[in-house]
Amino acid sequence: MERTFAMIKPDGVKRGLVGAILQRYEQKGLTLVAAKLLTVSRQLAEEHYREHSSKPFYTELIDYITSGPVFAMVLEGENAVQLVRLLNGATRVEEALPGTIRGDFATSTSHNLVHGSDSPESARREISLWFPEL
Ligand code: RTP
Ligand code: MG
Repeated sequence: MERTFAMIKPDGVKRGLVGAILQRYEQKGLTLVAAKLLTVSRQLAEEHYREHSSKPFYTELIDYITSGPVFAMVLEGENAVQLVRLLNGATRVEEALPGTIRGDFATSTSHNLVHGSDSPESARREISLWFPEL
């Protein structure tokens, strides 16, 4: 069994898509292990996205993630890391296929509704960052 960190970003919460998105993860067979709604501090956002600190979109990304509450969660299942990435869809809006969360609901690369850890190592780091109690 593998665990991953997933997050419904502020646009997903504002648009009332928490239920629809969570349903996709659960329908796939992933189990919800922990979840919370929270407004992210700049410090947490910067730590979470530290790999992107030199990218041109970094400030915009931190502004976006701290712009309202997010729904943060830990999901568990076989190949959970890869499965959440598959369900989320491609990062670039023009590559996110219909049937994926981004493909069905997002119209922008920078406001793309969801996050999923990109490797088991990232998952361990992000779970301890967001859910230190686990
Ligand atoms: P995430 O980390 O949020 O799950 O997304 P990802 O792995 O699919 O994409 P990543 O390359 O890690 O980018 C992180 C987030 O930064 C925003 N972004 N904006 N304007 C742009 O060109 C651009 N590129 C990336 C997106 O919100 C992306 O999810
Ligand atoms: Mg990423």
